[in-house]
Amino acid sequence: MAASASASSAIAFSSATGAPARGRGSAAPLRLLSPSVFVSSGPRSLQLRSTMFGSDGFSSFSGVRAQVAAIEQADVEANKKVDAPVVIVTGASRGIGKAIALALGKAGCKVLVNYARSSKEAEEVAKQIEALGGQAITFGGDVSEAADVESMFKTVVDTWGTVDVLINNAGITRDALLMRMKESQWQEVIKTNLTGPYLCTQAAAKIMMKKKKGRIIQVASVVGLVGNVGQANYAAAKAGLIGFCKTVAKEYASRNITVNAIAPGFIASDMTAKLGEDIEKKILSTIPLGRYGQPEEVAGLVEFLAINPASSYITGQVFTIDGGMVM
Ligand SMILES: NC(=O)c1ccc[n+]([C@@H]2O[C@H](COP(=O)([O-])OP(=O)(O)OC[C@H]3O[C@@H](n4cnc5c(N)ncnc54)[C@H](OP(=O)(O)O)[C@@H]3O)[C@@H](O)[C@H]2O)c1
Repeated sequence: MAASASASSAIAFSSATGAPARGRGSAAPLRLLSPSVFVSSGPRSLQLRSTMFGSDGFSSFSGVRAQVAAIEQADVEANKKVDAPVVIVTGASRGIGKAIALALGKAGCKVLVNYARSSKEAEEVAKQIEALGGQAITFGGDVSEAADVESMFKTVVDTWGTVDVLINNAGITRDALLMRMKESQWQEVIKTNLTGPYLCTQAAAKIMMKKKKGRIIQVASVVGLVGNVGQANYAAAKAGLIGFCKTVAKEYASRNITVNAIAPGFIASDMTAKLGEDIEKKILSTIPLGRYGQPEEVAGLVEFLAINPASSYITGQVFTIDGGMVM
């Protein structure tokens, strides 16, 4: 499919060139000075001094204090934006990917919201991120197509200058018992769920290794750990993703890039909605916590691995989040 990118309010892209263009609001990537520059020599320090030694002498001292506080707060906000991690979330228009994008947006990240077909839903996610205080752009592209992946990384680098975190979340199912599984069903799932993460991880690692910093999270599945009837293609792709994760973690540890996988069990999303009542009943009987997980619960784990300083010593691990199914 042809790749396309757009921003909900800040940046619009020419689909032909992928180059950023001025849109509504502030268009260029933020280039903010450090707080010390502002306080010691910037125009606001001049403004501050003229207020302090103005015609009414020191009588407006409490007003000055308020101004200092406001400037300090603005500097904190500016600093937050400078340091805000740049994140790509693949398959972020719906389900788990959407919850991850929103959680990271709420945490102040700059988020590229990738999708395959659901452009309206992706735009909505981007708008929600901005309402939560983050920044977002959307990018329509197939993660299993090298040209789309290249274009996605060019877009994010042109917009925000780098990539700090990659969440390989996009995934599909094409279920059938092995005897009935068509080669096309096998290939489609392997291509999206395994080749996609390979292409995106390779592109991200190229950027991250130069700055010796980065975090990559692969969204695998418990099915990749224990198998599941009717999902030979999906189980093979997710098990492959886990092996891929551990290998890349070993290859890039010396560059300070951590690579981890999560293995969700059954999470309420479009993917599980199509299973049907009978299967759902059977599934619930195998989950000790007795319920499906929520996308937001998965997003919490991903947020921890993606941006929390406390996870910086974790790499090459698989985190099961499944209500106790696999233990
Ligand atoms: N739900 C579960 O119970 C569960 C359990 C374990 C693991 N997982 C894994 O978690 C991930 C998300 O699952 P989900 O349940 O949230 O799925 P979902 O609701 O079906 O959403 C899938 C997302 O992936 C996108 N996508 C699909 N193919 C793509 C491609 N080729 N390129 C780019 N984006 C693509 C979709 O975009 P469009 O909207 O444009 O189609 C959508 O945003 C998957 O990797 C899945 O295997 C899910």
